[in-house]
This record gives sequence, C-alpha cells and structure tokens, in this order.
Amino acid sequence: MLSKEQNDLLTRVEGDAPMGRMMRENYWVPFALSSQLVPGEAPHMATLLGRHYVALRAPDGRIGFFDEGCPHRGASLALARVEEGHLRCIFHAWKFDITGQAVECPTETGARAAAFCSRVKLTSYPVHEAGGLVWVWLGSAVEAPPFPDLPFVGELEANSFLTVSLGQCNWLQGVEATLDSAHVGTLHTTWISGIKTQRGGNIGLSLDGPPRYEAEVTDYGLRAAALRPLAGGRTYVRITEYLTPFISLAASNGTKTREGVIFITTPVDDERHLMFFGLYSDREKQDPVAAAIQPPDGKPDLYNYAPLPGGREARWGQDRALMAAGHFTGFGNNVLEEDMVVQASMGPIVDRSREMLSMSDVAIVKARRMMLAALADYEAGKLPPGSALGKGQVVLPNPIDTVIEPDQNWNEAAALIPA
Ligand code: FES
Ligand SMILES: [Fe+2]
Repeated sequence: MLSKEQNDLLTRVEGDAPMGRMMRENYWVPFALSSQLVPGEAPHMATLLGRHYVALRAPDGRIGFFDEGCPHRGASLALARVEEGHLRCIFHAWKFDITGQAVECPTETGARAAAFCSRVKLTSYPVHEAGGLVWVWLGSAVEAPPFPDLPFVGELEANSFLTVSLGQCNWLQGVEATLDSAHVGTLHTTWISGIKTQRGGNIGLSLDGPPRYEAEVTDYGLRAAALRPLAGGRTYVRITEYLTPFISLAASNGTKTREGVIFITTPVDDERHLMFFGLYSDREKQDPVAAAIQPPDGKPDLYNYAPLPGGREARWGQDRALMAAGHFTGFGNNVLEEDMVVQASMGPIVDRSREMLSMSDVAIVKARRMMLAALADYEAGKLPPGSALGKGQVVLPNPIDTVIEPDQNWNEAAALIPA
C-alpha cells in the first residue's frame, strides 16, 4: 500500500513530475520497433512522457527525432511531407534535413534569407538503434548516459523479435504485472494448459499454486525469484530481472541459457504506455507467430498485438460464452490480451492507497521501495540504479527458471553469466 503522494510520485511522468524528469535525464527510452521507421513513409509519431515528437528515417538509414511542433509557428511535423530524408512543413513549406537543420525557409526572402534559415533548427534528440528497437535520450545534459548492456542486444539480435501494443493505463501497472508471477497460473491458466501439452518443460510447474517471492536488489534494479515448492523438498525457481525503470526480463521455459521474455513498458503519458513484448534466445530463432501473441485464427499484428476488445461499458469485450465453454477469462485472442485487459480494468492510474497486498506481492513492494529511493537519490543529484550501466558492468541480467535441491540457494543455482 502506498500513500496518495507516493503513488503520484511513482506513476506520474507528465510535465515536471520527478519520475518523468528522472526517466528523461537518466535512461534511454525505446519508442518504436526498428521496422516501424521506413524511409519515405510518413513521420513516426511518438508521445513519450507526455510530450509529442516525430521521428524520421532517411534513405541512408539515419534517424532524426524531433519535437513535433514546427519552429516557425508550431504546426505539427507529423503532417509534414517527406522529401528524400527531409521534412517539409505543410503550413509554410519550411524544410528540414535529418539533423533538424532548416535548409529552406521560403517565407523569408531578401538578402538575409540564407542567414535566417541557417539559424533555424528543430529541437532534436540522440537516438540509438539496438535490439530491434529505436531508443531516444530526452535529457538536457551535454552527454547522454551510456547505452546499457542488455542481453537481447548484439549477438542475439538475429534470434530475437519484438512487438508492440498500446496499453490503456499507467506504465507502472504494466511493470508490476511482470513482477507478479502469481497471476500466471490464474489469469493465464487456459493458455498455460494449452502450451503445457505442446511444449512440456518447467512452464507447467507455474500452475502449482501461488509462489513465495524473494527479491534481491542489484546494480541494475531487482532480481526477483518466484519460488514454488515441489515434491521431495525441491523448489521450482522462476526469475524475473527488473531493470529500472521500465524493462523486465522474465524466464522463458526451462533453460539455463541466455534466453528470456522481454517486456518494456514505455510511458506515453500518465494514463497510457507502449508495451513492447518479445523473446530472445541463444539457442534458436524465436518465432513471433508461434509466440504468445498468436490469435487462434489469423496472424498477429506485430504493431498492435493486443488491442483492447472493448471499454468498461462493454466489459472490455469479454466473451462470456467462451467462459461458459471452459475458458477461464473469456479473452481468447491471445495471452497478452488478458494482461492488457486486467491492467486497464484497474483504472488509468490504480489507487495504491486502497489495495490489500498479499504474500505474492513481495517483489512489487520491493520494486516500489527501490524506485522511491531512486527518486530521492535522483533529487539529491545521485545516479539512480541502472542509469550508468554500460560496457563496464560485471554481470548481465539473466532470467532463468530451474529446479533446485533442498540445500541449494536460488541465487547461486540461477548463476549470473559474467559479461
Ligand atoms: S508552421 Fe511550419 S512552416 Fe510555418
Ligand atoms: Fe501476464
């Protein structure tokens, strides 16, 4: 349970809210799949932390990321014409190159026109393309923080995939669902039963009741272990790595290799987020069509994999006939739709002063405490967790699931891979 003030501190990102400021200054923020930025296509519209931007890819592959408003009189550059890697505002036809420099300002004529135009520049931000995503740094300091060493970036990119969908609620509801292994066996029970027979492995063990959680603070965030007792004193360990503030890597299914499920919860504004979902693996190429976003009929939409089937008045599109036929939730399109619906049903920003947390919420409580401490550190001029991680970090987060013996420690058994 949080006070209203604490809840506001943790959730709100718009305007001058501390969490929004901390995210802008200290973290690279993913805003699109690489495949969403195509040369020649309309500018990509991005709303991040409550502010509007546009992004463009030039024919040579370079990406520009700018404030949405034209510097002349503020018309949206989302409406701009795209001319060979340039943006031309449709209001008075000012034209900008991929760095944001104005190259034509037709409303300014005469001897000083060229000098005037050379002084006009879009406000632009550094971008970094990695792991199938395009990331931006929205901070104001001279230098961007180092880009973090992430396990799905680099050599494993060829095997991984990512998708994206719009979540209709505050970003923290998305993060907290990833630290809540207890819901997997309930909310997703119908899906789990289906894949248990197909795939086997440890995943079926997550049906065996709610877990006990233990969580350890790391230099990048939190290592949360969901522990479920098995026969003979053994324990099923399922680890989620939380990289503050918005990346969670969850165990895939019974491997001790570098493999995992990616959830990234980019705040759009106070009441919406982009939920990037994907898989990475050092064993084999991951297939988005075979993954959790596959609807029972038809192909998944990789740019909108879990659109809400309805709002509150329509009970979020729940299919009660499907429930009567045996489906646990009545949301049969794909497993992530179930997540998106329950998170939206909690309200745009859930009131955490009214909740009654139980034993399975230990990781969520720890994550909140850590983020409140990170905010206090940030306000005191210190670096929050994960923000300075670069090539020098000692360990890579590695979400695994495994079975340990009675005398084994979960953190040793689930050993971290040295970088
Ligand atoms: S507002 Fe863009 S050119 Fe005038
Ligand atoms: Fe879920």
